[in-house]
Amino acid sequence: MPAQLIDGVALSRRLRSDIGTRASALATAGHRPGLAVILVGDDPASAVYVRNKVRACAEHGLHSVLEKFDADLSQQHLLERIAALNADPTIHGILVQMPLPRHLDPQRVIAAIDPHKDVDGFSTQSAGELVSGLPGLRPCTPWGCMKLIESTGMALRGQHAVVIGRSNTVGKPMALMLLQAHATVTICHSATPDIARHARDADVLVAAVGRAGTVGGNMIKPGAVVIDVGINRTTDGRLCGDVDFAAASEVAGWITPVPGGVGPMTITMLLSNTVDAAAAAAVSAQLPGR
Ligand code: GUN
Repeated sequence: MPAQLIDGVALSRRLRSDIGTRASALATAGHRPGLAVILVGDDPASAVYVRNKVRACAEHGLHSVLEKFDADLSQQHLLERIAALNADPTIHGILVQMPLPRHLDPQRVIAAIDPHKDVDGFSTQSAGELVSGLPGLRPCTPWGCMKLIESTGMALRGQHAVVIGRSNTVGKPMALMLLQAHATVTICHSATPDIARHARDADVLVAAVGRAGTVGGNMIKPGAVVIDVGINRTTDGRLCGDVDFAAASEVAGWITPVPGGVGPMTITMLLSNTVDAAAAAAVSAQLPGR
């Protein structure tokens, strides 16, 4: 039987409806959630991503500002802009679109963002909270993948989850979230000798490599949940993931499509983090001494 589709568009719609309700309640109480998005340079893909983020804010009642800068922006100027947004009480989340031009140091830029406004979940504080199992702002893409897995009804406790890819933004936090959900986790990467052997044993397989054709149908355990984080372009201009979708759907129990799987969930979780950050700021504004 072919795999069931995990529909990221439909799940996003359901989650965004709740997010909109929460944003509106906060706005009524005088704490309208606000997101600042910073784009440096003219990378066309980044321009599309930030436009989608700003549009999603408007559609769900969040305030947003988009700050665009030329590619030759100095690091000092960027850090000053971040400092101003850190101090701005109408802004609860700050996102600096990656990748940055090469002369800018992404680690210094991320470190400059107030951790309470780190809605990307990229800061060392957010990473430490995730490692320690503490509440905090979680990286949006893997957090969205967790929601997609949850939507299948699979209980992760005791399942074998295999993550292919070890980036700081997806692979590593994904593995930690699966671990926190009591899965047994294997991380495969470019130096893993036989990725197929591990993948074939996965009850949950997450592919986050960024290369089309990384996961073939012969690497899937029958009935597995397959989450495809990759967004690649074929030579004829179509979007595709890291997984051979046609072959994998013959074997998997559940699978995300590309597009329409993980992609929409990343923005959904960004909205969710921004509303969470605004709610936390509203609570701390009520505390004595503030
Ligand atoms: N570039 C591609 N994806 C992302 C993301 O989730 N956050 C940021 N800041 N930059 C990105």
